[in-house]
Amino acid sequence: MSAEPKQPHLEQQFRGMAQGAQSLATAYIGVVNGLFAGLKRLGGTEAAALAAATGMDAAYVRRWCDAAFAFGYLEVEGEMFRLGESGAAMLPDAPGTLMPIAVQAMLNMHMAERAAALMRSGARPGEQVMAERETLLPWFGPMLEASFAEFFERTICPGVPIFAEVDARGGLVVDLGCGNGWYLRALARRCHAAHGLGLDGFDENIAQATRLAAAAGFGDRLRFASGDAHAFSLDAPADIIAMSRALHHVWEAGGASFIRRLRDNLRPGGAAVIWEPNWPADRASLRAPAWRGLAFQNLSEHVQGNHLLGAGEIASAFAAEGMPPEIYRFAEGREAVIVARRPG
Ligand SMILES: C[S@@+](CC[C@H](N)C(=O)[O-])C[C@H]1O[C@@H](n2cnc3c(N)ncnc32)[C@H](O)[C@@H]1O
Repeated sequence: MSAEPKQPHLEQQFRGMAQGAQSLATAYIGVVNGLFAGLKRLGGTEAAALAAATGMDAAYVRRWCDAAFAFGYLEVEGEMFRLGESGAAMLPDAPGTLMPIAVQAMLNMHMAERAAALMRSGARPGEQVMAERETLLPWFGPMLEASFAEFFERTICPGVPIFAEVDARGGLVVDLGCGNGWYLRALARRCHAAHGLGLDGFDENIAQATRLAAAAGFGDRLRFASGDAHAFSLDAPADIIAMSRALHHVWEAGGASFIRRLRDNLRPGGAAVIWEPNWPADRASLRAPAWRGLAFQNLSEHVQGNHLLGAGEIASAFAAEGMPPEIYRFAEGREAVIVARRPG
């Protein structure tokens, strides 16, 4: 006879959360192996045909189809599986795709496992943690692009005057820690007179960024190169040096000297444009559902040798190096853009 749980409402809540994790894990497997996309292409299909069309192992795909059916991603008639509504929502190219939620969930689990072990010694292995799982790194860029590109184009560009200046004047925009290069692609679409250089520490990101820029028709205006942002220097000074969710990656090892490097690589009148999640000044904010994810992110950033920054802290660092900052806040203050100019 099993004992009655003391707090049945809590048990139900936690079992629901555990099923949510299983559901997102199932979606992740389908996303990174092209199974949702394969189902879309084939329409109704048996598991074996889906395996053949996607180049996957048939026995694994059969188990995955059962799990994806159980969690409602697939519908089935006899042995013929087809995409359900939530399966179609996981298609990476679907408008408003839910793919980033599944990828982020798996990244969180990887980081959680690393933090659980590393907490014992205090070791912080750094950026390489991102590359420890073969399926995760290639999806990091697409996840960030699907999460933030539309917000950038619809909200941030119209809300920060420097982007109108870039539109009017063009010039060289450098994106440090560029990931898959979506930010420069978005700027190149708006602003025909701009050209761009993206730098990132991972070769995988640079290969993706180069391929995606060429596919978008920007091969002649956007260039990407592997390199360490701590050591970058430009042949000609930039009009804009942008960093999107990348400053906190170089802050602990760089700090003030990194800000000086930004300044010295800008032309007089040029600007650093820093977009960061905004770590709140008060802990109480972290309880709100919209902020919670930031608290977990900060734990996983610690594994990578980073921590999240408050907009005020970033602004003060630029002011201290003689670059007067302006702060623009978005999404109820969770996102901040700091624009700091090198005096002309
Ligand atoms: C959170 S991602 C943001 C990527 C991209 N800017 C975006 O918004 O999608 C941070 C990026 O910074 C890169 N990065 C971290 N440290 C770096 C360094 N020292 N030099 C160059 N790139 C670095 C990482 O490889 C990663 O692509």
